[in-house]
Amino acid sequence: MFHNDARDWWRHAVIYQVYPRSFADANGDGVGDLAGIRAKLGYLHTLGINAIWFSPWYPSPMADAGYDVADYRDIDPSFGTLAEAEALIAEAHELDIRIIVDIVPNHCSDAHAWFQRALAEGPGSPARDLFWFRAGRGEHGELPPNDWHSVFNGPAWTRVADGEWYLHLFAPEQPDLNWENPLVRDEFEDILRFWFDRGVDGIRIDSAAMCVKDPELADFDPAAPPTPHPFVDRDEIHDIYRSWRTVADSYETPRALIGEVWLADIDRFAQYLRADEMHAAFNFDFLGCPWDAKALRHCVDATLASHAGVGAPSTWVLCNHDVTRTVTRYGRAETGFEHGLRQARHLTPTDEALGLRRARAAALLTLALPGSVYVYQGEELGLPDVEQLPDDTRQDPIYHRSGGTDPGRDGCRVPLPWSSAGSSHGFSPSGAAPAWLPQPDWAHLTVEAQQADPGSMLRLYQAALAVRGAEAGLGDGPMTWLDTPEQVVAFTRPGGFTCVVNLSTEAVELPEHSAVLLASVEPAGGRLPADAAAWLRTA
Ligand code: NOJ
Repeated sequence: MFHNDARDWWRHAVIYQVYPRSFADANGDGVGDLAGIRAKLGYLHTLGINAIWFSPWYPSPMADAGYDVADYRDIDPSFGTLAEAEALIAEAHELDIRIIVDIVPNHCSDAHAWFQRALAEGPGSPARDLFWFRAGRGEHGELPPNDWHSVFNGPAWTRVADGEWYLHLFAPEQPDLNWENPLVRDEFEDILRFWFDRGVDGIRIDSAAMCVKDPELADFDPAAPPTPHPFVDRDEIHDIYRSWRTVADSYETPRALIGEVWLADIDRFAQYLRADEMHAAFNFDFLGCPWDAKALRHCVDATLASHAGVGAPSTWVLCNHDVTRTVTRYGRAETGFEHGLRQARHLTPTDEALGLRRARAAALLTLALPGSVYVYQGEELGLPDVEQLPDDTRQDPIYHRSGGTDPGRDGCRVPLPWSSAGSSHGFSPSGAAPAWLPQPDWAHLTVEAQQADPGSMLRLYQAALAVRGAEAGLGDGPMTWLDTPEQVVAFTRPGGFTCVVNLSTEAVELPEHSAVLLASVEPAGGRLPADAAAWLRTA
């Protein structure tokens, strides 16, 4: 089936994130679907990616865009059917594209059968023990059991009709599962097998560091949390991923585990990547790093050192469905990303032309670094964040639970522009319902327009992925820094390959080379312009 049958594909793959609601709508309801994705597999093949990670496609009330899962073994009717998912997996495999599905273990949906049963069976029932139900504090139990806050604002507890409260670290529609209960563990191992048996090559693990809670459920000051933290990165969590690794390794072609692990401590982060746990985890330090040579070099060094310690491949991520799109953030005065600063930076001035120029250079940087790379749909089109969405179209629970003060994440989730045909720049067929989030005028950013323009971001990505696929020295493996001026980043990879990124404000002399393989802005007179990157043949 695979031409490239390497068992360690995850060490060097370029993995494209499909956010199903916003990728392509075939049935005209204004929401993306599996038929739309199947129709665009040729596009992804031409782009040159090696794997697709699907954000959740399961039945869901969509209180958190599908990260509230009602049934882990089926497909949401708005996206299609399980049979279509199976066909999609097979068709992708025919094109040498691996499939990664999103597994959400910290919480499910309040519409999940388990939670409905827990509500029905009442306090003290075994069904309640699958979650974190507790009596409240105060004279009549009218106060939450502790002072924990939801990641999405407000208290992390909601009271049910019989007076008990349940824990939800995210939205109230996302009750946290109790990983102390062996039934939860068994159920998720079975869910993994369900998808692995259908040919899925790997899983992305949502909120992977948060599943285990301190059963004491004690109050704490979030500004000075105790160690261990009551619900982040507790030591017991590693047992879960060790068991999952056993499941993944039980297949003839072992399946890959890829963690969403947001942790400031890089050594604690690396523990998730030990040989008997996950294969890889998203590099959020790199995602948050400002456009600054020193900071980037430092981040690359720290990443390589921590991953080498556990023998795991590094990953390089610039963007996903939770963060400000790269073009918008790189065009600002403050080019780093932090969740806590999203609200403060929203609508601050951004120079999109500069942001795009830097995003082009950043694409060549990430695709040349050792390890695997994640590309979020639309990144290859250089889409900006849509900051000016009408308030009544915003759906993110972060926006609603902040009373509208935090814009939330809808701006990076606007449906893709494909062509001048049909509705919503070709996202939907002609005459379709409006797209679930409105697009700005993206006529110049459509796939069709960019395919016809040799200078487009899309053509740069296609060319870069073609070179990456052909260069044996790229992907996982060694790299060596070159001595450069402070605001220039340059390194070599085996086989006479050099990547140079100029983050200064002046053109810089390129090192000696026999050919320019690719550049984000064409060098002139042997000099690389500001905010540009080049790949050179240097042997
Ligand atoms: C991380 C996901 O990426 C995000 O979109 C989601 O809201 C939270 N986990 C909760 O599932």
